[in-house]
Amino acid sequence: MTGAPLDGKTNHLRDLFLLRPDVIFFNHGSFGACPRPVFEAYQAWQLELERQPVEFLGRRHAALMHEARAALEAFVGAAADDLVYIPNATTGVNIVARSLPLAPGDEVLTTDHEYGAMDRTWRFVCGQRGTRYVRQPVPLPITSVEQVVDAIWAGVTPHTRVLFLSHITSPTAVTLPVTELVHRAREAGLITVIDGAHAPGQVPLDLTALGVDFYLANCHN
Ligand SMILES: Cc1ncc(COP(=O)(O)O)c(C=O)c1O
Repeated sequence: MTGAPLDGKTNHLRDLFLLRPDVIFFNHGSFGACPRPVFEAYQAWQLELERQPVEFLGRRHAALMHEARAALEAFVGAAADDLVYIPNATTGVNIVARSLPLAPGDEVLTTDHEYGAMDRTWRFVCGQRGTRYVRQPVPLPITSVEQVVDAIWAGVTPHTRVLFLSHITSPTAVTLPVTELVHRAREAGLITVIDGAHAPGQVPLDLTALGVDFYLANCHN
């Protein structure tokens, strides 16, 4: 964006960021700028903590975290008690992948559109367990939901235990049909793990209706 008003009258979005006026910023995926109201709110919380650290961390922390999970509940459509704060999506996939009871001969099915850190995590964990990591090709261009579902499902074998997918892919910016795939996977008894790093705020979420086992994401999109 140049900073010029898009509708000829207003340009309020640019004013929401602290970016230098000469900067035209596109990469909110890798190192996104923080909107001013969010920046101010988190600085206010940091100051609040510094005023009485023992009271904040020792006495108020649990209730405040519950309040924050309750606020997120409606946004992602999951019960507050099913939500856990983690440092980032990569940490989440590591927690899940390293905790699953994968055995030699099992298979983890994914696509060839996944984010590098996630691919490396699954390869590492699968290597340790003797599990096969199957990167199913999803050819471009994509013309229909059925095409994607069929391409991914062609990788399912009697040994498949886990389906791991991005909700919105990093290298190709494709919104994968996770609803269709998660429902089908659950019917087949597979564990479903979704990398939703780019999804909250970009696509509506109802994680309860989705019925996914693990949905890892961040909220800075
Ligand atoms: C699809 C996808 N998953 C995961 C990540 C990494 O997210 P995080 O830094 O929150 O771990 C990215 C970062 O761009 C991504 O594009």
